[in-house]
Amino acid sequence: MSVLKTTTYDPPRTDGFVFSPENKAKADAYRTRYPEDRQASAVLWLLYLAQEQNGGWLSSDAIEYVAAELDMAPIRVHEVATFYTMFNLRPVGRYLVQVCRTTSCWMRGSDAITKACLEEAGTGALGEVSEDGVFSVVEVECLGACCNAPMFQVNDRDYFEDLTPESARAVMAKLRAGEEVKPGSQSGRAGSEPQEGAKTLLHLAESPAPAGDGA
Ligand code: FES
Repeated sequence: MSVLKTTTYDPPRTDGFVFSPENKAKADAYRTRYPEDRQASAVLWLLYLAQEQNGGWLSSDAIEYVAAELDMAPIRVHEVATFYTMFNLRPVGRYLVQVCRTTSCWMRGSDAITKACLEEAGTGALGEVSEDGVFSVVEVECLGACCNAPMFQVNDRDYFEDLTPESARAVMAKLRAGEEVKPGSQSGRAGSEPQEGAKTLLHLAESPAPAGDGA
């Protein structure tokens, strides 16, 4: 007998949502980039602002507020919010740790990184918020730093690369303690150079670029 599988979509509601005066001004500025009859094109900008203001996630109220701002049917904005994985439809921790699980990172041990991150966060499962509200850990697809696999991204910006379970834990421990932590390779290599340092084009370091070379 086959079992009918159903999916549910039900982002939590909050006590309403309105842009802060500052974000309202930003939203209005974004909207001027689009013609009067193409205001819906600003939807990603406004959703992003709403998510930022709402502590890193989009409630149904926030999504529907954006729909009203752009004179769009709420379902159309819900469709956009559910399509892009960068929009979070549940509360997240202050630091959202996004562990890449795609091929290069997986081959270089992303499963162990995820496990270490969950343990350090103190959460039982992906997507849960830690009791102190500091972390949630999720797995994501390739973040474009395959040369420095395995890696994770924290919030919107910082990449931490060349991770081991130990260095992943160390990064998170520093974040939790409010200490400064340097993004980039955690193994000490420069960019994506070989671990032992540069091996090609070594002469460039000794010979200055020819005059007039504006490249
Ligand atoms: S596979 Fe992880 S960054 Fe590309």
